[in-house]
Amino acid sequence: MKGRVEVIIGAQWGDEGKGRVVDSLGSRVDVFARYQGGSNAGHTVIVDGKKYVFHLLPSGMLYPGKLCVIGNGVVVDPEQLLAEIKDLQSKGMDRARLIVSGSAHVVMPYHKIIDKAQEAFRGKGKKIGTTGRGIGPAYVDKFSRCGIRIEDLFHPDVLRDKLEFNLEDKNRILTRLYNLEPLPFDEIHTQAMNWGKELAAYAGDVSRILYEALESGKTVLFEGAQGTLLDIDHGTYPYVTSSSPVAAGGCVGLGLGPNAVDRVIGVVKAYSTRVGEGPFPTEDSGELGNRLREKGGEYGATTGRPRRCGWLDMVGLKYAVRVNGMTSIALTKLDVLSGLDEISVCVAYDFEGGRLDHFTGNAGVLACATPVFERFEGWKDDIAACRNFDDLPSAAKDYVRYIEKETGVPVQLIGVGPGRDETIVRGL
Ligand code: GDP
Ligand code: IMO
Ligand code: MG
Repeated sequence: MKGRVEVIIGAQWGDEGKGRVVDSLGSRVDVFARYQGGSNAGHTVIVDGKKYVFHLLPSGMLYPGKLCVIGNGVVVDPEQLLAEIKDLQSKGMDRARLIVSGSAHVVMPYHKIIDKAQEAFRGKGKKIGTTGRGIGPAYVDKFSRCGIRIEDLFHPDVLRDKLEFNLEDKNRILTRLYNLEPLPFDEIHTQAMNWGKELAAYAGDVSRILYEALESGKTVLFEGAQGTLLDIDHGTYPYVTSSSPVAAGGCVGLGLGPNAVDRVIGVVKAYSTRVGEGPFPTEDSGELGNRLREKGGEYGATTGRPRRCGWLDMVGLKYAVRVNGMTSIALTKLDVLSGLDEISVCVAYDFEGGRLDHFTGNAGVLACATPVFERFEGWKDDIAACRNFDDLPSAAKDYVRYIEKETGVPVQLIGVGPGRDETIVRGL
């Protein structure tokens, strides 16, 4: 094909700065495409000092005249999507054209209620710490083949039929399993019909549109949500999300073959964070963790929860290189490490008297793994104004070169601040 596909994925547990990397690279992109997840995502973009947080909309919405698409692999909460569109419109910033796949599944009100009820009933120790956005239950319905898709919202009879079947089932679960009130059919049906009316203008065949864009030489950017270690198959199961954030998920979630992909850009935060439950070997619950959280503004863009923080985990990063076929790294938040005397990186784990050199998604093993750290000299200078690699202090350059050497992947973009232009670009 004449065009190009670049995939942007999170290499850690999400919140690596995918939204800002998409935005920073956006000027040379024609089509921005979300392929999985839903409004559990929170992608922050800062342009001209103004902050925008995207949950369902692709992070390219601020670019005038471009195309943004939401693929079949996404679970769409119409309430959230319409609110996001209206918010951008009210700011005069809905500059791109939007198309939503008719075969994307709809997050219904009962999915959100079940998500929260399941978490409450799981209790301490078993909780996943979900975002409560109904993601897991919506994907469950998709895979048990009873889900409602965007295109169903445009057909009153199909919608009625599917909703009747689903509500009967969900109301049994809500009342008998969770002691909650049943949901009224008429209210939800009317709401869903209204969503259909509002969304009709946006629906389209995303796979075909992307194929044709590529045939005419356009550049398409797949925007991953969440991160590799939250992937349903490759993450730290069961402390994961319910979709495939890895690069291969892009082809399934948008309807293109794997040979369409030219480049896989892994977004890597210069340290690690995780929000929600689950093992996190390099987590620091002391002074360092607090320092990273405060300096890095590590509070969830979707839920506002404080993120757990710790050093970079090279074992996890090498795994992310492998399972994504990563060809470039975008290293974000290097500026947050400025001012530290020393920086550590986890290079292996000690486990049951032995040494683990390779990552495992086995949560039980990871929970008992003790990180083995290699230490690096820190740097004092603020690096926010650096725009060339050679402007960086030598210790910062060494840190970047070390990451390149260990992963075998070039660091082609470095984030030194959250704004669109606060980057050092090295070939991307
Ligand atoms: P995403 O979910 O991967 O898009 O990441 P989030 O938006 O949830 O979290 C990343 C946070 O880091 C946001 O607040 C960004 O504005 C901020 N950020 C991204 N890149 C940089 C960077 O290079 N430096 C600094 N200081 N902040 C950054
Ligand atoms: P972005 O795209 C960080 C986490 C939740 C929880 C687990 C399952 O902004 O990087 P879910 O609601 O998906 O069923 O929750 O996944 N999680 C994220 N963590 N960034 C995200 O998205 C996340 N989306 C989900 O905290 O641990
Ligand atoms: Mg986020």
